[in-house]
Amino acid sequence: MHATDYTLITGASSGMGEATAKLLSTSRNLVLHGRDEARLAAVGEACARNGADVALFPFDLEKADTVGAALTELLKARALPVEAFVHFAGMTEVLPMAKTKYSVGLRVMNVNYFSAAEIISALLKKKVNGQSLRNILLTSSIAVITGKKYQPHYCGSKGAINALGITLANELAPNIRVNVIAPGSFPTRIVQTTFVDAPLDGSWNPSTLLHPGTVDDVARIVRFLISEDASYLTGQIINVDGGEHFPHF
Ligand SMILES: NC(=O)c1ccc[n+]([C@@H]2O[C@H](COP(=O)([O-])OP(=O)(O)OC[C@H]3O[C@@H](n4cnc5c(N)ncnc54)[C@H](OP(=O)(O)O)[C@@H]3O)[C@@H](O)[C@H]2O)c1
Repeated sequence: MHATDYTLITGASSGMGEATAKLLSTSRNLVLHGRDEARLAAVGEACARNGADVALFPFDLEKADTVGAALTELLKARALPVEAFVHFAGMTEVLPMAKTKYSVGLRVMNVNYFSAAEIISALLKKKVNGQSLRNILLTSSIAVITGKKYQPHYCGSKGAINALGITLANELAPNIRVNVIAPGSFPTRIVQTTFVDAPLDGSWNPSTLLHPGTVDDVARIVRFLISEDASYLTGQIINVDGGEHFPHF
């Protein structure tokens, strides 16, 4: 049975967000965000077929300064109480430090970090979302601890996400749990379509201890983290990487 409240997923038009939306759609109603409207609509239709009530929120998160207002308008117009927020939307840059630009860094920070902060700020306003919010799940990367050559702003934005998760877990307890997942390497669109202005190291071959990861592996962990089964977890940064972050001996 579906609850009366909603789970908001950014980046639901692709990859991990899409897989998570489809998995959650058998038990949760959804507000699905993406930028590509056709792909977002297709995911929405698949989720609706699983029984979820689905609202779509197409928005370019490079405009992070206006995402709070746009989301507020949607939630008020449709009377959608958001119980859980999952931030998957993300972009990267591949540029050596000497070639990167402030404007590139700003785009990355807007999508990966500031949009999450602005959405959370909107969801915490009583006039927008009452006291519905109970769960926040942010997406970082193991690149925060392993580093990722030629992706300085991406790594910086994910480090900021880790810090945001920890500080919000403190600020918002005990009513709202805040956790962060740090994925390893998954063959999704962000990896396949990243623009390349510098040599990449080798081909796709993540050095995991377990099997190469799939987006469904991520989705199942997200489902657990925002469920009642994880009710005693907050402020955690959880590597979802099949052991990829370990040094290799
Ligand atoms: N794949 C990996 O190896 C890996 C590793 C560590 C962390 N992560 C993180 O995991 C998260 C999910 O990524 P993924 O692997 O599932 O990649 P993905 O398939 O490329 O999905 C990225 C999502 O972000 C959205 N997005 C990107 N730029 C946007 C913008 N300007 N405005 C609005 N939405 C935007 C995309 O929307 P559209 O497609 O509609 O444009 C898409 O839904 C990201 O935060 C990523 O950094 C991924």
